[in-house]
Amino acid sequence: MRAVQVHEFGGPEVLVPVELPDPLPGPDEVLIEVAYADTIFVETQVRSGWGRGYFPVTLPYIPGGGVSGTVTALGPGVAGGWLGRRVTSFVQGSYASHVVSAASALTIVPDGLNMSSAAALVHDGVTAAGLLELTKVAEGENVLILGASGGMGTLLVQLARARGARVVAVARGDQKLALVRELGAHAAIDPTTSDWPERAREALGGGADVVLDGVGGRLGTAAIALTANGGRFSAHGAPSGEFTALGPAEADHRGIKLFGITDVQFGAADLRRLRSYALEEAVAGRQRPVVGEVFPLERAADAHEAVESRRLVGKVLLEC
Ligand SMILES: NC(=O)c1ccc[n+]([C@@H]2O[C@H](COP(=O)([O-])OP(=O)(O)OC[C@H]3O[C@@H](n4cnc5c(N)ncnc54)[C@H](OP(=O)(O)O)[C@@H]3O)[C@@H](O)[C@H]2O)c1
Repeated sequence: MRAVQVHEFGGPEVLVPVELPDPLPGPDEVLIEVAYADTIFVETQVRSGWGRGYFPVTLPYIPGGGVSGTVTALGPGVAGGWLGRRVTSFVQGSYASHVVSAASALTIVPDGLNMSSAAALVHDGVTAAGLLELTKVAEGENVLILGASGGMGTLLVQLARARGARVVAVARGDQKLALVRELGAHAAIDPTTSDWPERAREALGGGADVVLDGVGGRLGTAAIALTANGGRFSAHGAPSGEFTALGPAEADHRGIKLFGITDVQFGAADLRRLRSYALEEAVAGRQRPVVGEVFPLERAADAHEAVESRRLVGKVLLEC
C-alpha cells in the first residue's frame, strides 16, 4: 500500500511517502480502501514533536486518524454485508491507501453524502456536536467562537446558530470573516485589530454565556475576560501553542464551568452516536462541511504546510 510516514519530528518535510505491505484484517476487522483521510491541526503539532505528554507517539509512525472509504475485505467473524459499503472510521495511522479498522468502529456514509464531506466530518463533526452538547448551548445565549474559520470552527458556527444562539465568530482576514458570516455568525471579529475584545464584548451584549476556544494563547486569555459570570468555557484547542489556562480558583469565583481537551475524548458509544448525527445533519443540509483544499496523499507535506500557514479556510483533506 501507499502511505506517508514520519521518521523524525520536524517540519512538514518529515512527512515522507513510502510503500508498505498491505495490512490484513484480523478477527472482527475490515480492510478499507481509503478515499480521503482528514487532517486536523493537532497532527501538525504532533509531527513537530509538540505535546508528547498529551499525544504520545513512537517513531516511525503513520499520522492521521479519520478516513472515509470502501470496505474491500473482511476478517474472520465480520458480517458479509459490510463488503463494498461506504464507511468512515477512526484508525491509528490514516495517511494511507488502505487501513484496517474494527468493524465495530465503522459508520456507514449515508446515500447522498460524498466521501470528501464524510471525511471532513469524521473528527470535526464529532467534536463539534459533542462540544455543543457538553456546553449545553441554548436558544438566545451569546456564544463566542475562536478559530471560527477552521475545520471544526465552521461546524461550531453552524451548530450554535441552529440551536438559536447569538454567534460571535473570531477569524482573521476578509475571506474568513465573510465565510463565517455566510455560515450564520451574527458578528465576525478580526483578532488582528487591537480593539477586538471591545468589539467582541459589544457584539456579545456584554459577555459570552459560552466560549468555544479552539485557539488558546493570547486570544484565549482575552476571551476569559469576555466570559459572563456563570458561563461555560471550553479550552479544547491550542494552535497558538498553548491551551488557555483559566485557573479553577478564578472559574469558581466567577461561577464559570470549565471544559478542556480531555472532555472531548469520547467513548465508543458516544463516538458512534455523534458521528452518525454529524453525517445525517450534513445529508439533511443542516450543516455544511467546508473543504478548503484536497491534496494527493503523496503531498501530505504540502497539506500540513497549508494548515500551519493558515492560508486556507475550513478543512484540508488528503485524497488517497
Ligand atoms: N478537530 C477535532 O476534532 C478536534 C478535537 C479536539 C480538539 N481540537 C482542537 O481544536 C482546534 C481547532 O481544530 P481544527 O481542526 O478546527 O483546526 P484548523 O482547521 O486548523 O483551525 C484552527 C484555526 O485556529 C486559528 N488560529 C489562531 N491562531 C493560530 C495559530 N497560531 N496557528 C494556527 N492557527 C491559528 C486559525 O484561524 P485564523 O487564521 O482565522 O486565526 C485556524 O482557522 C485545534 O487546536 C485542535 O487540536 C480539534
